[in-house]
Amino acid sequence: MLARRMDRVTASAIMELIKTTAAGSYISFASGLPDPALFPAETLATLTEQTLTQDGRAALQYGPAEGYPPLREAVAELLRRRGFRATPDHVLITNGSQQALDLAARLLLNPGDTVALENPSYLAAVQAFDSYEARYRTLPLDEAGMCLDTLPTLLAGRPRLLYTLPNFQNPTGLTLSPERRQRLAELAAGAGVLVLEDDAYHDLSYEGEAPQPVCSLAENPAAIYTGTFSKTVAPGLRVGYLCAAPPLVERLAQLKQITDLHTGSLTQRVVYRYITDGHLEPGIEILRQTYRARRDVMLAALDAELSDCAEWTRPRGGMFVWVRLPPGCRAGEILKRALALGVVFVPGSSFHPESGGENTLRLNFVSSTEEKIRAGIPLLARAIREVLA
Ligand SMILES: Cc1ncc(COP(=O)(O)O)c(C=O)c1O
Repeated sequence: MLARRMDRVTASAIMELIKTTAAGSYISFASGLPDPALFPAETLATLTEQTLTQDGRAALQYGPAEGYPPLREAVAELLRRRGFRATPDHVLITNGSQQALDLAARLLLNPGDTVALENPSYLAAVQAFDSYEARYRTLPLDEAGMCLDTLPTLLAGRPRLLYTLPNFQNPTGLTLSPERRQRLAELAAGAGVLVLEDDAYHDLSYEGEAPQPVCSLAENPAAIYTGTFSKTVAPGLRVGYLCAAPPLVERLAQLKQITDLHTGSLTQRVVYRYITDGHLEPGIEILRQTYRARRDVMLAALDAELSDCAEWTRPRGGMFVWVRLPPGCRAGEILKRALALGVVFVPGSSFHPESGGENTLRLNFVSSTEEKIRAGIPLLARAIREVLA
């Protein structure tokens, strides 16, 4: 009865897990959520009131599909600071960067087309690609991010797009080295393969500024870069963006119009004021300080509890630590014991587009306080030791 593409659209195991544990008294390292205690609610309340008082009629009216023009200019300015030669015509404002990923996939993928991507990768992007009946070719990751050894061969097979998360990747926390960025940009441009770069965590960088985006490193008209205010302001606003060559932006805006006409006029204006009134930079600094300290607490707790039987990434930004257990040790089994002990995480196999990763798990280090992290990691370690025994 439903369209064939719905065959691969299923409830996410992660969302189910997060839903069932949200109500209980679990210590949760499972979610993909930022800490709501750090949302700038009072500032947003003031800015919303100002927006409604000062330009309420326009803020409540329909707007252009491409986005509120002053916000497009403000985003272009942010992008220029990241190394792009961006004008407002390069920017499409989207309902979170998830919509940017979906629009890009809808623009590019015919059923059966190949997407090249990291293994593991961001689950909700894979779900978007699934809904357009994509097939996958995967690239492994090491400490310096995506491994490029097999990339030339893979690109020669002409995938429709290459999806990459070079900064503080969700789920592994890994970052692509500057040398590999340059090479990736050049190889993809040379092969004429479209790069879809997801930089949702760019500003959550805890060791200096994040490296320059791949899409800004080579002249490639086939590049779509996505970003968001979800991690730096608040995800409930649903304001993200993409940056691409103006002819691509035009086509993507046509799709956006079909989907939802445009992103909310009021929220776009509130985000615009948040940026131009000077709240963004200080807000990011608070997030960096708080999240950096939580990361350090989690890494120290892992060092103390698990160094004899597991290894994990040491992320320079973002929200996640990725833990690898000895082969044969199944994270699904550990999760059952962890739930009984009151702690929850996401098994890493969920993030593998095809299969694998049964001995891996993802831990969110930003959504719990330092005390909760200190209390939760020993419980997780106990669950792991019970399974290993
Ligand atoms: C890597 C990555 N990309 C994109 C998104 C989508 O976020 P949003 O739609 O809120 O911008 C997320 C959200 O968790 C993410 O982790």
